[in-house]
Amino acid sequence: MTAIVGDIQAKGYLDVAIDPTLDLIEEINKLKKEKNAVILAHYYQEPEIQDIADYIGDSLGLSQEAAKTDADVIVFAGVHFMAETAKILSPSKKVLLPDAHAGCSLSDSCPPHLFAKFKEQYPDHLVITYVNCTAELKALSDIVCTSSNAVEIVESLPVDQKIIFGPDRNLGAYVKKKTGRDLVLWNGACMVHEIFSQEKIQQLMHSHPTAKFIAHPECEDHILAMADYVGSTAGMLKFTQKDPSQKYIVATESGIIHQMQKASPGKQFIPAPPNNACACNDCPHMKLNTLEKLYNCLKYELPAIELDAQVIAAAQRPIERMLEISAQLGL
Ligand code: 13P
Ligand code: SF4
Repeated sequence: MTAIVGDIQAKGYLDVAIDPTLDLIEEINKLKKEKNAVILAHYYQEPEIQDIADYIGDSLGLSQEAAKTDADVIVFAGVHFMAETAKILSPSKKVLLPDAHAGCSLSDSCPPHLFAKFKEQYPDHLVITYVNCTAELKALSDIVCTSSNAVEIVESLPVDQKIIFGPDRNLGAYVKKKTGRDLVLWNGACMVHEIFSQEKIQQLMHSHPTAKFIAHPECEDHILAMADYVGSTAGMLKFTQKDPSQKYIVATESGIIHQMQKASPGKQFIPAPPNNACACNDCPHMKLNTLEKLYNCLKYELPAIELDAQVIAAAQRPIERMLEISAQLGL
């Protein structure tokens, strides 16, 4: 076992050979029943992982699901901060992440020790952090938010409440614009949502004049300014289901297109083009998870999320505040 754990630290996952004759979907379903496990997957996962999940959603939906599940084991097909959030909400459960190296550039852009210093400069400010951050950063926060509820959470506070918002400068700027509040922003960003080319999107809109342009609020302001709809992944998905258009240019990670296509088979979804021909809209962290890693992770119950009890205790309250406000607002 020591060797296996050592191996996981280096590689991020359990590299145990899998019998190639196994039907992995069948085996995963069997293991889920045996262990009373649930698979929660984010929309940015590979389609085959989305298709085997018990629940697929955006960060808010996934947190709500993690808080209410009665499973003993949660396999989080997503990235590290999401699995940590599930562990904070359900500390007695085993929370597994198929690849422990599935991180997040946005979370990495806000080291907690630097944020603590930043926060010291604004002692009378309330701290709202986007869920895409480490457990330690959540522990330094008053309220957590997601892209589904950031605007509403800020609006739920008194107008004269001074607020620090981190770590995403783009979501922060969007919330500032929507609410008219003067937020102090941390200068962080997501590598996937900052690659879109305004010029190439304009060209695409020109060649598809009936297409609507939809974007995630982690995109830069000049990209959001062109959008017909701005929202979280769940919001974008809902929009494409209700909206009468037949074509959409989608500015977010490409994994969501799998659900959009499933929900509206007759419609066409075009990924928004990145500014560099070598780049793509895939999140390299999200895409580290594979069906094989998920199978091994469920079978051997490794890698598991471990967090310091003090961090869990401090990070729980701001996440619960977000869930309470969201429930009050029916989000
Ligand atoms: P949502 O799915 O909550 O919109 O978050 C997007 C994202 O970047 C997750 O990493
Ligand atoms: Fe992080 Fe961006 Fe990947 Fe989401 S898409 S996990 S914010 S790097």
